[in-house]
Amino acid sequence: MKKIFLTVTAAMLLFSCNNEDNSVTETPEASVTAHRGCASDEVLQWQLKEDPGLAQRMKDIEIKTAEMISQGRIVNGVMEIPVVFNVLYRTSAENISTAQLQSQIDVLNKDFNAQNSDFNTANNPYSSVRANVGIRFVLDAINRKSTSKSSWGTRDAMKKSKRGGIDPTSPTTKLNIWVCTIGGGILGYAQFPGGSSSTDGVVLDSKYTGTTGTATYPFNLGRTATHEVGHWMNLRHIWGDATCGSDLVSDTPTHNTANYGVPPVGHRSTCSGTPLEMYMNYMDYTDDRGMYMFSNGQKSRMLAIFNVGGSRASFR
Ligand code: ARG
Ligand code: ZN
Ligand code: CA
Repeated sequence: MKKIFLTVTAAMLLFSCNNEDNSVTETPEASVTAHRGCASDEVLQWQLKEDPGLAQRMKDIEIKTAEMISQGRIVNGVMEIPVVFNVLYRTSAENISTAQLQSQIDVLNKDFNAQNSDFNTANNPYSSVRANVGIRFVLDAINRKSTSKSSWGTRDAMKKSKRGGIDPTSPTTKLNIWVCTIGGGILGYAQFPGGSSSTDGVVLDSKYTGTTGTATYPFNLGRTATHEVGHWMNLRHIWGDATCGSDLVSDTPTHNTANYGVPPVGHRSTCSGTPLEMYMNYMDYTDDRGMYMFSNGQKSRMLAIFNVGGSRASFR
C-alpha cells in the first residue's frame, strides 16, 4: 500500500510540471561530446505539452504498475500460485492430514518444473517436446468443515456455503482446491478459465489427493491434481474430447480417445498419419504411474492466460 502511495505521488509530481514552458528542449545545455545523452525525457516533456491526454494515460500506467508489483507473485522470475485447500469431511478418513495436502503441493511443484522422478522415463518418443512449465505452488491456507454429506457430485455444491460447502477464498489471486468425496467414480474436476470466480478452482476426491495417507492406487501419485490444474490453466484433454479430436496444441499427436491403465511403448493412434500416442501426457487418462509430462505447446497455452491481459492475469 505504501509502495502504491509513493509511486502514485511520484507520478503526480512528474506530471504536475507538464504545463510549464519546456523551451530548454530547443537548446540542450549539455555539450554533445561531453557525455552520453538520452533525449527520452526531453521528448516526453515535449509530447506532454503537445498531447493533452498523455499525462493521464501515463498516470494510469503508474497506478497499474504499482498494483501489479504489490500483488505480484513473481519470485525470481517464476510465478508462485498460492493454494487454498477446502477440505469437506464426514468421516475422519476424509479429513486428510496436512502432510497429505503438502504432498500434493510437492507433486504439483515437481510436475510443473520437470522435477518429477519419472520425467526422464526411457523410450519416450516425445522427449524432445517435454516441458518445464516453470510455475510454482505454495500452500497458503487449509479450511476444514465437518459435514453430513457422503458425496458431493459434480455440480459445485462443495464450493457454496449455502449448500453446505465452503466458499472460495480470494479466487482471483489464489487457486482454491476443494477436497471431498465426489462420488460416481470421478477422481477430480476443474473449472476452465472464463468461468465465474465464485466457483473457480479445482475439486479433488480425497482418496486421489497427494501421495500419502488415504491416497489410493493407481491414482496415488498426485497426478489427478496435475491433470485438473492443467484444465484450470486452459488445457483440453489430449484426445480433444472427440474421436481423433483436437486439443488445440500443435506438438501433441492426435489420439483416438482416452487411454487407461498404462499403454505399451509404441502404442499408436489409428487417426490420420497413425502417430504414436502421447499417453504419458498429464492430460490423458493414463494411471498416475504412466503419465509424466506436459508438452511445450501445452506450456505456451498455460502461460498465455497469466500474461498481462490474460484471463488469469490477476494471479501475477
Ligand atoms: N477428471 C479425470 C477423472 O475424474 C481425472 C483423470 C486423472 N487421471 C489420473 N491418472 N489421475 O477421471
Ligand atoms: Zn480431465
Ligand atoms: Ca494436438
